[in-house]
Amino acid sequence: MIDLTGIPIGEVVKKSGLRHIAFIMDGNGRWATAKGQPREFGHRAGAANFKTIVRYCKKIGIECCTVYAFSTENIKRPKREVEAIMTLLINYIAEAGDERDIEFKFIGDAFGLGENIGKKCAGLEKETEGRPYRLNIALNYGGRAEIVQAVNRLILEKKQSITEEDISSHLYTAGCPEPDLIVRTGNEQRISNFLTWQSTYSEFHFSPKMWPDYTTDDVDFAVRDFAGRGRRWGGV
Ligand code: FPP
Repeated sequence: MIDLTGIPIGEVVKKSGLRHIAFIMDGNGRWATAKGQPREFGHRAGAANFKTIVRYCKKIGIECCTVYAFSTENIKRPKREVEAIMTLLINYIAEAGDERDIEFKFIGDAFGLGENIGKKCAGLEKETEGRPYRLNIALNYGGRAEIVQAVNRLILEKKQSITEEDISSHLYTAGCPEPDLIVRTGNEQRISNFLTWQSTYSEFHFSPKMWPDYTTDDVDFAVRDFAGRGRRWGGV
């Protein structure tokens, strides 16, 4: 194993081959509750931190970032909380085209959240198409549902038998390398229906911090941890 202590983080990213990082941004609600605030307060802080962390990942040379913003199950939350998250998202979309170099892709069924949101997501994707850094925002997303929609599209294409490559190329994340590293904050250690197909060989990093408290130093820590792992892809 190479000793990467003292090596600048951008070099560590390069040497470790880390191209795609994904975040399960967990803990907004608990963070707010601990401060005696409503859960929406936590989502506001979480959305602000999401911008900081995404910009930082781009700065240190990671090509692709995926964030879990809203799962297919999150719709079961109280109406007020769902509306607060949707408002944050709509406000973000309104300004996001100005994020330099970022190509946005909404993975999941954005139109399932309403025509208005679906159109805004599609508009941002179109506006930013072809930019060099990819940001996947998982919205109304479920990993199993993503596989099912891929298979249904293959059926429509009248495929008689399918390969792994067929499924991969019909996922929402087509065109992205598979996630090398998946980080979950909020002191929970599970995958929660996130990138089910794509995470087969991902490394996992769990942080006890709540998402609004997660910093760029914590990203460095996760990246260095990743760089120290021995990835064997099922070989020896
Ligand atoms: C998990 O924390 C977080 C979510 C379900 C929503 C994440 C949303 C954001 C960070 C804002 C999204 C906005 C943009 C602009 C992408 P939790 O509520 O499950 O926290 P808890 O486990 O403490 O209850």
